[in-house]
Amino acid sequence: MATTTLNSSSCHFPSSTRLYSESYLGLRPTVRISYPRNLTAPRGYLAVKANGGPASVVSAAAAVKEMVRREKYPEESIGFVGEMRLVAMRLHTRDQAKEGEKESKSPEEGPVTKWEPTVEGYLQFLVDSKLVYDTLEGIIDESDFPTYVVFKNTGLERAEKLGKDLEWFKEQGYEIPEAMAPGRTYSEYLKVLAERDPEAFICHFYNIYFAHSAGGQMIGTKVSKKILDGKELEFYKWDGQLSQLLQDVRKKLNSVAEW
Ligand code: HEM
Repeated sequence: MATTTLNSSSCHFPSSTRLYSESYLGLRPTVRISYPRNLTAPRGYLAVKANGGPASVVSAAAAVKEMVRREKYPEESIGFVGEMRLVAMRLHTRDQAKEGEKESKSPEEGPVTKWEPTVEGYLQFLVDSKLVYDTLEGIIDESDFPTYVVFKNTGLERAEKLGKDLEWFKEQGYEIPEAMAPGRTYSEYLKVLAERDPEAFICHFYNIYFAHSAGGQMIGTKVSKKILDGKELEFYKWDGQLSQLLQDVRKKLNSVAEW
C-alpha cells in the first residue's frame, strides 16, 4: 500500500496560507481555505507537514480514496500533480467539494448556493484576479528559465479574458475599481517566489489555474445566476477543450517536477 511520508522540503506555501483564496475575498470577505504551512513536493511522493505538527502518514482510508481517484482520473493526474491535488482536496470542506475533509467552521465555508454575493464584490474579485493573472502570465512570458518556458501559451491563460470581462462591465456602466490588497500582495509574493523559489512558484501555478478551472468555474456559474442574469463571462471560457488543456499542463507539471 502506498503511503505518503510527511516531511518538509522544497515547495512551500506562504505561512499566511491564503493563496488563491485571496481572490475569493471580493466575493465573500471571509472565505478562505487554510493550507498547511508547508505543502511540499519532493521528487517521489508529496510530503506535507501540517502547521508545526509531527510528521505523520496518510491513512489507509486516504490511500483507498487515492486508488479510486487514480481510476477516475487520467494518467497525467498522478505523480506530482496528483499529490498536490490530493492535499488541496483534503483542505476543502465537504460543502465545497465531495473529497473535502475539512470541517465547515463558518457559513462562508458552507455551500456556495447560500452566499449572497454583490456585483461590486464580484467585480473587485475579477479586478484582483486580473492583476494576479497579469503577473503570473507576465513572469512566464518574459522568462527564459526552462522550467517556466514550457508553460508559455498553455491555453489556460486568463488575463486577456478578464480584460474583456472588465470592458463588458464598463459598458454596463460600472466603474472598474483599483486592485486591492489581496490581489496586490499576492502578485508581489508571486514575483518573489518566481525569482527565489521556482518549485514553490510552480505549486502556485498549478493551484491558480486548476482551482479556477474546478471550483472557480462552479462558483462563477452560480454567482452569475444570482447577480448577472446568468451572463457567461470570458473568464470561464477557454479556446479549445478545457479537459485537454488541463491534461497537457498536468503532463508538463509532472515533467518539470522531476527536479
Ligand atoms: C468556496 C470555495 C471553493 C469551492 C466551492 C471549491 C470547489 C472545488 C471543486 C468542486 C473542485 C473539483 C473537485 C473534483 O475534481 O472532483 C475543486 C478542486 C480544486 N480546488 Fe477548490 N473550491 C473552493 C476553494 C478553493 C480554494 C480557495 C483553493 C485554493 C486556494 C482551491 C483549490 C482547488 C484545487 C487545487 C483543486 C484541484 C483541481 C485539480 O487538480 O483538478 N479551491 N474545488
